[in-house]
Amino acid sequence: MGGPKRTRLGGRQIVGRGRSAGSARSTALVFGPGVLLRWAQEGAILVATKPISSPVKNAEIGELLEALAQHAQRPVEEALALPPAVYRSAPLLAHETRQIFEREWTCIGRLAEIPAPGDYLTFSVAGQPVVAIRQADQSVKVFANVCLHRCAKLLEGTGKARRIVCPYHAWTYTTDGRLVGAPQMDSSPGFSIEGQALAELRTTFWEGFIYVTLSEEAPPLEPRIEGLREVVGRYRLTDYEPVILENEIWDTNWKCLVENFMDAYHVFKVHRKTFDPTNQSVQRTTMHEGGDQWAYHTVDAPADDSRALAHPDNTWLEGDWRRTVTLAAVFPTHTMQIQPDMLWYLSIQPHGTDQVAVRWAVSIPREILADGDREALVKQWGELLRAVNEEDKGIIRRVREGVNFGSATQGRLAHLERNLWEFGQYYSRLMTA
Ligand code: FES
Ligand SMILES: [Fe+2]
Repeated sequence: MGGPKRTRLGGRQIVGRGRSAGSARSTALVFGPGVLLRWAQEGAILVATKPISSPVKNAEIGELLEALAQHAQRPVEEALALPPAVYRSAPLLAHETRQIFEREWTCIGRLAEIPAPGDYLTFSVAGQPVVAIRQADQSVKVFANVCLHRCAKLLEGTGKARRIVCPYHAWTYTTDGRLVGAPQMDSSPGFSIEGQALAELRTTFWEGFIYVTLSEEAPPLEPRIEGLREVVGRYRLTDYEPVILENEIWDTNWKCLVENFMDAYHVFKVHRKTFDPTNQSVQRTTMHEGGDQWAYHTVDAPADDSRALAHPDNTWLEGDWRRTVTLAAVFPTHTMQIQPDMLWYLSIQPHGTDQVAVRWAVSIPREILADGDREALVKQWGELLRAVNEEDKGIIRRVREGVNFGSATQGRLAHLERNLWEFGQYYSRLMTA
């Protein structure tokens, strides 16, 4: 049969191999519906032959999409919770993958979490394994975390690597993704490691966070969240140092967790033993207008609560900002609580309809670490936030169980749930686009 030799690579194909007539090393952008791969190549052409996820027949979820289209029209004065079925429908989750997770920007971690060359962190975006690695020149690149041989996931968790060695048959890559070793492959006619490299993803950095997208068509992130930068930028998050990073699976739908993090209403009830022992959260909370892809509210810390105050060496936060806590979300799945003395963020991914993969991490400003007992600070924040997580885990598991009731209804949202209305608008818009 004629035509180029085709080699399977995950859901894609490499068409032909061999030295290209052009430059010794070039970069090709090749994409199909919902998928982008930036392929550093020398003669190998990577093509996306099919979308990563299968199309969902609208008939299966038609009624829900219709309800979401109406939901997107609902003004904040008449805000309702999302239709309960969106938290339990498996076909809808497949639609979410295509409409949201394969198209949007996902926060996978922070630059400061991989400070030195070879440091890496892994994550899963729309179910696809990726790895961010600090380069020798201090830049950070994000690659498909998938071996070019038979697709074994290369790295797990976080760590440091001089070379990336596949755990299956020891194909070996440099930290900038080039294949430099493939044992025994001399006996495979026509095979060469020359010019082969891991696929590199579109990446952007915002306030010290690392974002990636699988899509070539996703508009740049920064202009879409410029309004949020005006708030978040005040804190100088790039001077915060990572101290805790945990990966967990919680029993709830991913949307319940995003909504819960941005819900200023539940704090007085769910967190009265942790965040709100003096029952002041309602009076101290201010809801703000967000944008198409982001939302936030602020909480004024009591002047006598040393937990949320700026250090005297912090000269950039002024006035009330020295004791202002900002809770923000970059939709779909990045949430953060930013304080003058601490950053706590979540990167969230669906894990079926009734579980969620959560990366939660804590950073502390350098001036506070330099002036205090580091170990004691980390212990104190770790204990508090683990207790808060337990409170939240319990309540959002109950919400996930509750939405199973066939005729559960869409309740009216409180003014302190404004950010849920904003999330609902965003979600409905993308799902019905
Ligand atoms: S799958 Fe990686 S070396 Fe075989
Ligand atoms: Fe909470």
